[in-house]
Amino acid sequence: MKALILCAGKGTRLRPLTFTNAKPLIPIANKPTIVYSLEMIKKAGINDVGIVVNPDNKSDFETTLGDGSSLGLNITYIVQEEPKGLAHAVAISEEFLKDEEFLMYLGDNLVTVDLGKFIKEFDNNDMDSFILLTPVEDPSRFGIAVLKDNKVIRVVEKPKDPPSNLAIIGVYIFKPIVFEAIKNIKPSWRGELEITDAIQWLLENNKNVGAHIVYGWWKDTGKPEDLIEANRKILEQLKESKNEGIVYENSSIHGNVIIGKNSRILNSVIRGPVIIGDNVLISDSYVGPYTSIGENVTIENAELENSIILDKATIAHLETRLDSSIIGANATVISSDSKPKSIKLVIGDYSKIEIPR
Ligand code: G1P
Repeated sequence: MKALILCAGKGTRLRPLTFTNAKPLIPIANKPTIVYSLEMIKKAGINDVGIVVNPDNKSDFETTLGDGSSLGLNITYIVQEEPKGLAHAVAISEEFLKDEEFLMYLGDNLVTVDLGKFIKEFDNNDMDSFILLTPVEDPSRFGIAVLKDNKVIRVVEKPKDPPSNLAIIGVYIFKPIVFEAIKNIKPSWRGELEITDAIQWLLENNKNVGAHIVYGWWKDTGKPEDLIEANRKILEQLKESKNEGIVYENSSIHGNVIIGKNSRILNSVIRGPVIIGDNVLISDSYVGPYTSIGENVTIENAELENSIILDKATIAHLETRLDSSIIGANATVISSDSKPKSIKLVIGDYSKIEIPR
């Protein structure tokens, strides 16, 4: 079986982070979101992975994942020239997928499940398609499924009047009949060929669609808090401490904390779960729970918690604690004594700054 990961979305809701990196490559607990999916795919015994990218983000993926060999995978990149929908992305991948069943995965979703178990369930029950579902509070934002006796009887994309609260969460298995389904559907109101409509076509043509309900799924919804929540969920699972750096005597480390190579902690308190990358300097500071710090970061005389700090950022001399923040790569957050006493900002397009009154 091959896998197809759809990553051609523009990630506009996560600007400015997505100006410099594709959405599925934004790190959560210091690992690109897509790598969690790739590791699960590998664990399920799949080695050949197609990643559908857009012309602008293709090189981001090539730089980070290359040909996939470091993850034990063979990755093929397929370019979707225009955002014409998930089903369109599948249609242009037909040559890569050939005449085999395949696993499809939406690249910006994060769910930790045993994919091998679902593939077995799919094979043993002679299904034409299989989807993972989860209950949600706002069903009109998703593809929704209606079940009867554990079988899917109807799916509908972003219904105004949702017939259930079970959202399609972006993990699908298909037999090649899906290509025929896609040829028979029309673009939706948003001008896209919807994979949900292709599944509905399968149902209307008496095909067998199975489903499984899972919990603990995450998808970005555009708010930075959601990225922070995903980071928190992953760090909650951190069950070990590892120190490959140097913790000087006047510092203390509590709970599960990972410290990368050549990183130095001086005169500071780190309260886990926290993950710190390589070559980081933390001095005279407090780093609180649910914080991920990338590589080559400098934190001096500052307090922060529940935050994501990307590579090469600098945070220094803050009088107020940073909380629930995402600091982009190479960004600087610093306070100074220079006169006049004012806030000086050089911020990129679509940035968000919240200053306490
Ligand atoms: C897409 C699918 C939708 C699914 C959702 C899950 O929506 O069209 O059926 O429920 O992903 O993430 P989109 O992200 O394009 O709005």
